[in-house]
Amino acid sequence: MSLAKARSQKAVLLANIGQLLTLHAAKTEAGPRRGHALKDLGIITGGAVLCLAGRIVSVGTTKDALRDPWLKRNRRMVTEVDCAGKVVLPGFVDSHTHPVFTEPRLVDFEKRIEGASYEEIAAAGGGIRSSLDGVRKTAKAALASKVVTALEAMAAHGTTTVEAKSGYGLTVESELKSLEAIKEAASRWPGTVIATLLGAHVVPKEFQGCSQKYVELVCKEMIPRAARRKLAQFVDVFCDKGAFTPEQTEQVFAASKREGLSVRAHMGQLSETDLTRFLQFNPASFDHMDHVSDDDVLELAKRDTLATLVPGANYFLGLKKYPDARRLIDAGVPVALATDYNPGTSPTISMPMAMSLACTHMKMSPAEAVSAATINGAWALRVAERKGSIEPGKGADLAVFDVNDYREIPYWFGANHCSMTILNGVVTSTK
Ligand code: NIG
Ligand code: FE
Repeated sequence: MSLAKARSQKAVLLANIGQLLTLHAAKTEAGPRRGHALKDLGIITGGAVLCLAGRIVSVGTTKDALRDPWLKRNRRMVTEVDCAGKVVLPGFVDSHTHPVFTEPRLVDFEKRIEGASYEEIAAAGGGIRSSLDGVRKTAKAALASKVVTALEAMAAHGTTTVEAKSGYGLTVESELKSLEAIKEAASRWPGTVIATLLGAHVVPKEFQGCSQKYVELVCKEMIPRAARRKLAQFVDVFCDKGAFTPEQTEQVFAASKREGLSVRAHMGQLSETDLTRFLQFNPASFDHMDHVSDDDVLELAKRDTLATLVPGANYFLGLKKYPDARRLIDAGVPVALATDYNPGTSPTISMPMAMSLACTHMKMSPAEAVSAATINGAWALRVAERKGSIEPGKGADLAVFDVNDYREIPYWFGANHCSMTILNGVVTSTK
């Protein structure tokens, strides 16, 4: 459904909300949430939210909402949803996903169970490179349908804004096709999609031994063509051993800047990299961050670049260690949570699952997990002025959970308690 169509939807009033998590910003706050502010969910009991034409128009108690003169006059044309005994929060902002792929990687899954590591599997012909053929051979429309299926499943679990990367084609043609598939899928889904070019995911086998030639292709062809056709808002690089070097990452970032695109990177997943050299490019986020130095933690605490943690990848790879969220949060680094939905390391579309892992394995409190999955995800995508909290003027993106207390969202892991999602004002019931 197009946004224009979404905006023509009826007014919606969610009333009698057991717990309304507004994530309302403190007046003094500018920039992403960090430290204690991550715990501030702006909870209203007995709350109400009125949405009109795809936007939130009022937020408060149900008592106050029902006194509103506009609502009194127009009550008949408003769809009312009784949310007694339920939790309503901003729709999740999943700021890191790789939805353009064709097949699950079941051989990798079994090999890993038998003891092979992520790098060993990649070296043996599995890993990211084994997903390329499927995407290269598949038509745009079929890829778009796969993406729509994933977006719909995400919405059924409470997600309303999704960052979607290319990165499983790795030729100019198939990367642009992947971005076009994302664009087509976005037009068929009422939520919001932010597209990212991940041409620098790994060096494809045609360029093995001459990775620099591939980087030049990314910089001189993929990025300019994606930018010219406005197919991507961000450019991402997998900067790590077995992927791209810090020098190559800088080259990709510089090319992105020249074309007016913002940057983000997979960083510190397998090994530590000095981050200071990248800060001149003002990256929106560094994602994974399993390995990061003390100096870089101190530096990031002064900046608005998010550390986006994706514990689904650690879980699915069967790792004992998770990113040290406490060290980052306690130092003042703004953190976001995302699914990293992809066929190799994190085949989950569920933000509640990512939140549950963040609580149990990274010792984030449920409140911190909510902020990281909503408002800070919005900051990581640079859409915080319109997404990530329930405030008048922002997009009508809401998730309704059939639970009494928001802490039950990460608590009941593996079960979906989301009963309704509102995406740019469009109501989708999931139960
Ligand atoms: O975020 N690390 C790089 N990219 C993905 C993995 C992709 C894959 O294995 O297919 C990640 O974990
Ligand atoms: Fe990823």
